[in-house]
Amino acid sequence: MISITYDAEFYRKTLNETIRENDTVVEIGPHVGEYIKNYVPRTKLTVAVDKAVQSEKSIKVLENDFKNLRFVRGDVRMFETVKLVLEITKNCDVLCIDMGGGRYPDTVFKVWAVWSGIFEPRDSIIRNRGIGEFVQRAKVIDDSIIQPFEDSGWMKTWGRTVPYELKKQMDEFDFWIKVK
Ligand SMILES: C[S@@+](CC[C@H](N)C(=O)[O-])C[C@H]1O[C@@H](n2cnc3c(N)ncnc32)[C@H](O)[C@@H]1O
Repeated sequence: MISITYDAEFYRKTLNETIRENDTVVEIGPHVGEYIKNYVPRTKLTVAVDKAVQSEKSIKVLENDFKNLRFVRGDVRMFETVKLVLEITKNCDVLCIDMGGGRYPDTVFKVWAVWSGIFEPRDSIIRNRGIGEFVQRAKVIDDSIIQPFEDSGWMKTWGRTVPYELKKQMDEFDFWIKVK
């Protein structure tokens, strides 16, 4: 399932309700990991990824309490960060993305599309207001792309592909940064 949320408490509650016993979780944007300790004990592995110095400081402390918790510091828009996580796990059951609920939806969608395409989660949970608005307002009207999809947390049309192609997808971020 792909869940879209905005309210921070609702996002955390959704994580709690979605993560099952022995799941492998990739959480993007855990901040200081305030919520992470509520679900980590029941997971096989949790990989927390954040670019913030304060995240590294706090979650490194939590790593001492939870042997199944790994912190990766990096910008999730960079292919190098994907590679660091791939060294720890090749798949995940739940992919959680909170880069800040008001972040530009195109950035959050791209991060979700790339990361979910690589790790092929059973469930994705995204916190973003703009994506929520888009999903509610959009209607697919072209029969040629209306079809049933199996329930999963990643897109059938953009699943795991060869590393070079993934790198090209990530490189588009670089283009956007140059544009501004
Ligand atoms: C609103 S906070 C997340 C709060 C957290 N979900 C919670 O429940 O406490 C957003 C986090 O996303 C991280 N973030 C934003 N952009 C990022 C990026 N490009 N790469 C990695 N982390 C990013 C920030 O450093 C911050 O810690």
